[in-house]
Amino acid sequence: MSVGRIALVAAIGGLLFGYDTGIIAGALLFARDDLSMGSFEQGLVVAMVPLGAAFGAIFAGRFSDRYGRRAVVGAAAVVFLLGSLACAAAPSVAVLAGARFLLGVAIGFASTSCPVYISEVAPPAERGRLVSLFQLAVVVGILVAYLVALALEPSEDWRLMLGLGAVPALLLGIGMLQVPPSPRWLAMVGRDDEARAVMASLHMPDDEVDTELTAIHAGLKTEQATWRDLIRQPVRAALIVGVGLAILQQVTGINTVIYFAPTIVEFAGVTSSSAAILSTVGIGLVNLVATIIAVRIVDRAGRRPMLIAGISGMVLALLVLALAFGLDPDGKDSITAPVTVVALMAYVAAFALSLGPIFWLLNAELYPLRERGAAAGAGTTANWASNFVVSLTFLPLISALGVAGAFGFYAGVGVLAVIFCITLVPETRGRSLQEIEELWKRRAGMDAPS
Ligand code: GLC
Repeated sequence: MSVGRIALVAAIGGLLFGYDTGIIAGALLFARDDLSMGSFEQGLVVAMVPLGAAFGAIFAGRFSDRYGRRAVVGAAAVVFLLGSLACAAAPSVAVLAGARFLLGVAIGFASTSCPVYISEVAPPAERGRLVSLFQLAVVVGILVAYLVALALEPSEDWRLMLGLGAVPALLLGIGMLQVPPSPRWLAMVGRDDEARAVMASLHMPDDEVDTELTAIHAGLKTEQATWRDLIRQPVRAALIVGVGLAILQQVTGINTVIYFAPTIVEFAGVTSSSAAILSTVGIGLVNLVATIIAVRIVDRAGRRPMLIAGISGMVLALLVLALAFGLDPDGKDSITAPVTVVALMAYVAAFALSLGPIFWLLNAELYPLRERGAAAGAGTTANWASNFVVSLTFLPLISALGVAGAFGFYAGVGVLAVIFCITLVPETRGRSLQEIEELWKRRAGMDAPS
């Protein structure tokens, strides 16, 4: 199987991540009546996914070092399947909340291991593009979820909305049985002959295979990474960048738009709910188109310029939003709604060209091989924990600061994110994963082995 096809199979994990986070907004409208849910219970059902994902990611990294990346993605497929079916059949709020937690665990597994798996089968020159397929799949999943919710709205069939997640879960499970294990993981656990065979099947020339295997072994100690290893240099330096970006990807507010777009548009004075849902679909489309552009240019433009320019664009769009709501807090002026929708689209486009795909890419390629699973798991956990906090605090933040204040706050955090990228994030474009390890050693003032 070609590397591109292998990456596509693993990216189905991203599709499920997007679908299961995106579908709840629509499904909730009907599930809440059927299961007579109050607002606390609704919040619970939404928040169980990021909570489960943060929890799943804690274990996913260690499991992926021990049992292999492919095995963890396969396990995620099974949990996705069970979670989707349990959501569809849930007789009570408690079961629904539990099933959503399960889906979260699967998302934690997938968002840790799918990008790492792809980065380890990809050649350096195409790694950015192939790993970014994961984020592309997330965004497709979100858009498909919005469209399914729109299509099933007349039938009010929330069980079908949630249950449909079982289809890609099955595809992911079947697909993962056909793809090879990560050759770098095989080498890490000493299964060199198998690693060699996989590299050959990926059409790596023989001399390159030898150089790779020697480099992998030079960078490895034999025992497995522990949590304590993560705070030793050079991993610590890499982890600060990875975890920093994980948090910044969320605290610049993206999911307030992804999860609450119809509400924000209503604040701006749009009263018809179909217009609100339609502008949400528009935002999903913009997200998709901008992510496609990002995937095409990331290996040429480089990670750093995209991050810096993209986050600056997010800050500008947030300032426009803050200004629009500052001048017209109640959405009385007819210009506020169109300005808001355009600014939201610009914000999402700028995110999709920067923090969206590039955090997931860097989280898979920044860390040394021996600690890669555990460190990527730590980054993913931080990302989902921040997602949980932001989703939970958005509406209270609006009550406290107003809509303008909330967006102003995210803009301020965005400025910090730009400074963080300029000062700390290294360029990894075109470098092999081994070269990236050397880079951290140099930064930490450690001698690179000759
Ligand atoms: C990234 C974020 C996720 C967000 C999505 C939106 O994948 O990690 O939280 O919902 O982008 O496109």
